[in-house]
Parts: sequence; structure tokens; C-alpha cells
Amino acid sequence: MARILLQFAHPILSKSRIHATLLQACLNLKNVTINDLYEQYPDLYINVEREQRLLLSHDIIIFQHPFYWYSSPAIIKQWFDLVLEHNWAYGSRGNALAGKSMMNAISCGGSRQAYTPTGTNRFTINQFLAPFDQTAHLCKMTYLPPFVIHATHRLTADELTEYGNQYCSVLSALANDRFTPDNFEGIQYINELVTR
Ligand SMILES: Cc1cc2nc3c(=O)[nH]c(=O)nc-3n(C[C@H](O)[C@H](O)[C@H](O)COP(=O)(O)O)c2cc1C
Repeated sequence: MARILLQFAHPILSKSRIHATLLQACLNLKNVTINDLYEQYPDLYINVEREQRLLLSHDIIIFQHPFYWYSSPAIIKQWFDLVLEHNWAYGSRGNALAGKSMMNAISCGGSRQAYTPTGTNRFTINQFLAPFDQTAHLCKMTYLPPFVIHATHRLTADELTEYGNQYCSVLSALANDRFTPDNFEGIQYINELVTR
């Protein structure tokens, strides 16, 4: 089984609809560790040693967060700046993360159509996530297609539950090594593997 580390970042969880639902849905999943970054580090003073230890003891690192300003909440950037040290995560002697996988699990206010070349946001979600994709590549990790939820403000209670179930299915398939690299070929979002 693969060990999953959920690097969770929501600055105001008490006001969250979708991430509160996703977290609740995967609370009891086997082999999933939830690391709530804003809860651990409300002043953004990240414990680098603790974070590196967590990375070493997991196989799949998932950054779960709302999409803010076409990227992530600030703590994730701070986390990358401090935790992924030269000659530890990358560089000629930096092999600590080699062979592990990285993924984003995000929610956005914008619709899927808005994230197309002719839509308001002009670029796709996958294009906006390029810094994560390339960071994974630099660290010799595999970057997996993201789990994405669109148009969050319009979601009904039933849709929230449905997304919670989808997320649970994705995490348990990843933990049980049920996806092969072939499965990821040609798909935009990992959601597609559990909704076909
Ligand atoms: C500071 C801020 C920035 C945001 N930036 C974006 C954005 O760039 N693109 C987008 O589609 N939605 C954006 N949103 C909407 C959020 O992504 C959306 O409210 C969130 O995913 C809902 O998740 P929650 O219910 O867990 O809070 C932004 C929201 C806030 C508060």
C-alpha cells in the first residue's frame, strides 16, 4: 500500500464548504495522514525538520487547497521555499523525494469553461499548476493529474457529498496502488478515473 500525506491548506476552515466536506470524507481512510498546515503553523513558521520527516515517511504527497489567485494559499508557497532544500529535495545530491508522487486537490470558484483558451481565465487549470508540475519534476517525483472541483459557490448539498465520495475513491485507489501510469495518459483531471 502507498502512504499518502495530505498537505492541507485553508486559511479559514470554519468558512469552508468544499474542503471541510473533502476532509470529513477522507478522515478514516487507511494510510492517509492529514497535515493541516495553517493549524500547525498559524504564524507561517514552518518546522522544516518535521515536514521533511513527514515527506520521507510517505509515498504520495497531495497539496489540498482552494485555488487562490490562480495558485495556492500563501502557506504552501512558504512551505516550498523552506522545506524543499537544495541537495535534499533537488540538486546533484538532492534525492530525498525521488520516486515519490505529487498531486494537487483543488477547488475553484471558476467554471470548467472559464478555464479554457476562450474562457475568462484563458488558461487551463493544468497550465496554472505548472509550477507544481515542474517542482515535482525537479525533485525527481511523478506529478499526477489534479483532483479539481469547479464553480464551488454553486454546489448543492448533494453535489458536495458526491465530490466527497469521488475524493474518497481517488485516495483509496491511490493508497491501494489501483492506478497505473497508463491510467493517467491523456486525462486532464484525476476525477475522470472515478467518474467514467
Ligand atoms: C483570496 C481568494 C482568491 C481566490 N482566487 C480564485 C481564483 O484565482 N480562481 C478561482 O477560480 N477561484 C478563486 N477563489 C474562489 C475559491 O477558490 C473558492 O471560494 C474556494 O475554492 C471554495 O472552497 P471552500 O468552500 O473550501 O472555501 C478565490 C477565493 C479567495 C477567498
